Amino acid sequence: MTRNPQLDMKAREILERNDLGGYTVPTHGLYPFQWNWDSAFVALGFAPFDMDRAWQELETLVAGQWADGMIPHIIFHRDDAGYFPGPDMWASGTTPPTSGITQPPVLASIVRQLWEQEGAAPDHPRLAPLYQACLRSHRWFHRFRDPLGNGLVMATHNWETGRDNSSEWDDALARIDASRVGAYQRRDTGHVDAAMRPRQHEYDRYVAILEFGRASGWDHRRIADSGPFRMIDVGMSMILLRANRDLLVMAEALGDAAAAGELRQQIARAESGMDWLWNEEVGAYCSRDATTHESSGLVTNASFLGFYAGVGNRHQQARLIDALERISRGTAYLLPSLETGSRAYDHRRYWRGPIWLVVSYMVAQGLAEQGHADWALRIASDSAKLIEQFGFFESFSPETGEGSGGADFSWTAAMWLAWCGR
Ligand code: GLC
Repeated sequence: MTRNPQLDMKAREILERNDLGGYTVPTHGLYPFQWNWDSAFVALGFAPFDMDRAWQELETLVAGQWADGMIPHIIFHRDDAGYFPGPDMWASGTTPPTSGITQPPVLASIVRQLWEQEGAAPDHPRLAPLYQACLRSHRWFHRFRDPLGNGLVMATHNWETGRDNSSEWDDALARIDASRVGAYQRRDTGHVDAAMRPRQHEYDRYVAILEFGRASGWDHRRIADSGPFRMIDVGMSMILLRANRDLLVMAEALGDAAAAGELRQQIARAESGMDWLWNEEVGAYCSRDATTHESSGLVTNASFLGFYAGVGNRHQQARLIDALERISRGTAYLLPSLETGSRAYDHRRYWRGPIWLVVSYMVAQGLAEQGHADWALRIASDSAKLIEQFGFFESFSPETGEGSGGADFSWTAAMWLAWCGR
C-alpha cells in the first residue's frame, strides 16, 4: 500500500474538527458526546501526529469511570438536545453524567500500544493511572458480567456490544416486553437515512432495557441477575481476553505481582471458557444467550476476533479461515458484519451487513499474529480502498462499498492514520 498524503491530511482534519477539547465526538450531529470504545480507537489515530492528545483522549474517558469500576459507554461532558437517549433519560446521578451501561473493553490494549510506541518505560508518567482504571474496569466485568464463571462477558444491553442491531440479538430482543415504554422522540433518523438505522420495534426494546436499568437505580448486580437482556457476547468476550493479556504485560512491567496473578487466572479461565461459544455446525464462535443457552448460529465479524484473542485449536482456526474464504467469495469487500445470505442480512443496515473498520482492524491484527498475514493484508487493503473511493464513513456496504451512516467519522479517520492508510 502506498501512502496518500491528501487522505492523511483529511483524516487528521476530521479528528481535529471532531475534537471538542480533550475528547472527540464520533461525528457531529448523530453522536455528539464521548463514546467509550470510539475514544480508544481515536487515540490510536492521534498518536502518529500528537501523542499528548492521544493520551488525553483516554484520560477524559476514564474521568467518567464509576465508583464500582464501570467505564460507561457514553460520557455527557456537555448536553446536546440533538441526541436521544440523553443524560436525563439515563439519570446516572454521576458527575459527569453518563449512560448506565458499558462498551467493549478495548482500552487496556490501546493503552499498551501507546505506551510501547513511546518506549514502554515502566515509569512512563501517563501509564499508572490508566493502568489502574483498566484494572478496576476489568474487575468490574469479572464481578458483574461473568454469570457462568467461565471468563466470558455478558452484555446486559445490546448497545454494550457496540454492534447495536446485530441479528445475533434478534431472538433475545423479541422476548422483551416493550408495551410500557413511554413516548419518546428518536433523533438518529433525523440525521441519517432510516434505512441505515435500527427499526422502530427494535428501538422500543432498546429503550425498555434502558428503563429496567434506570428503575433499578443502575444496580449492576440486579441488572446482571434479572435484567431483560442477558447475552454472552462473542465480541466483548474476545476483546476482554485480549485486554487481560495486554494488561498483564503492563502489570508485570509495573511490578504489580498481585494483579498479575489475578490476571493470569482470568486469562486461563477465559481461554478454556471460550469453547462454550464455539458452534461446530457453522464452524465459528457465536454469541449465546445466558438465560436460554441458545447459540445465535450466525457468523459475524466478531466471530473472527478469535484470532485477536489468541484462542482456537487448529481445527477451529481452520474452520474460521474456511468461513472467511466463503465470505470473501460472496462480497466485494471484507469484512462484512454479517455473513451474506444470513437471516436479516442487509448490506446497508448498520450491523446487519456493513463493514466497520474498527472490527476489521482487530481481526486483521489477530490474523497477522496467528500466521495469516495474507488475510490480514487483504482486509487492510479492502479497508483502504473503501476510504479512498467513498470517504470516511461510519460503515460501508460490503457489496458496493458505498458509505452508510454518518460521514467524517472519527474512528474511520483514526483507522486510516493508524492502520490501513499506512
Ligand atoms: C453506534 C455504534 C457503536 C458506536 C457508536 C458511536 O452506536 O453501533 O459501536 O460506539 O455508534 O460511534
